[in-house]
Amino acid sequence: MAGDRDNPQRREQAEPTEGDRPVPRLVLMLVAALVIWGTGYIIAQTGYPLAGGDSRTPVHVADSASISGKAVYSANCAACHQASGQGVPGSFPPLAESRWVRNEPALPVAIVNFGLQGPIQVAGERYNGSMPAFGSQLSDAEIAAVTSYIRAQWGNHAPAVDAETVKIIRKEHAGRSPWTADALRETFDVSRE
Ligand code: HEC
Repeated sequence: MAGDRDNPQRREQAEPTEGDRPVPRLVLMLVAALVIWGTGYIIAQTGYPLAGGDSRTPVHVADSASISGKAVYSANCAACHQASGQGVPGSFPPLAESRWVRNEPALPVAIVNFGLQGPIQVAGERYNGSMPAFGSQLSDAEIAAVTSYIRAQWGNHAPAVDAETVKIIRKEHAGRSPWTADALRETFDVSRE
């Protein structure tokens, strides 16, 4: 025992020990609780499976349901056929009171897609002009919307047209030149009003 007192190290300081205190249980439980709550919060906010990233709803500009036939008409047709659908006597035929508009849906769709030229009679008046084709600038949905619009305005009460009909007509007559009244009569059932 005397040796202990003589050993200067033992006499002065306790042997240093390496700090080995475990993280308190309470802290561990708190961390675990936070992780569980955080995960639950993210799932509650974003739904499962996790979406991540930018969760804003994308806007579908060309969504057929949101296309306004009236807007397409104003932008593309009203300059000639007028907002009133009455046209300009002697130059641009009316869409109101027009059997071409009210005919089977495929017929006005075909006119808008490929254009029209040469002599034609509309609402008892004769015209001999030229209408441009819109097939390359308007989508199926836009042509369906504008055709549905003119079929339901100014006293017209013809059924709406869907984009599928436009797609079919586009394919069936792809590459053709503008219609004439005769060509329309040969292709479609114009006896229908
Ligand atoms: C640049 C002028 C012009 C524009 C723009 C125009 N049309 Fe026409 N449209 C005409 C002319 C001219 C005729 C007659 C062509 C003829 O004499 O053979 C006609 C004929 C028609 C006809 C058949 C005849 C009738 O009056 O029912 C329909 C249907 C029609 N257009 C729809 C439209 C629609 C829909 C648009 C827009 C997407 C449009 N047009 C844009 C000039 C135009």
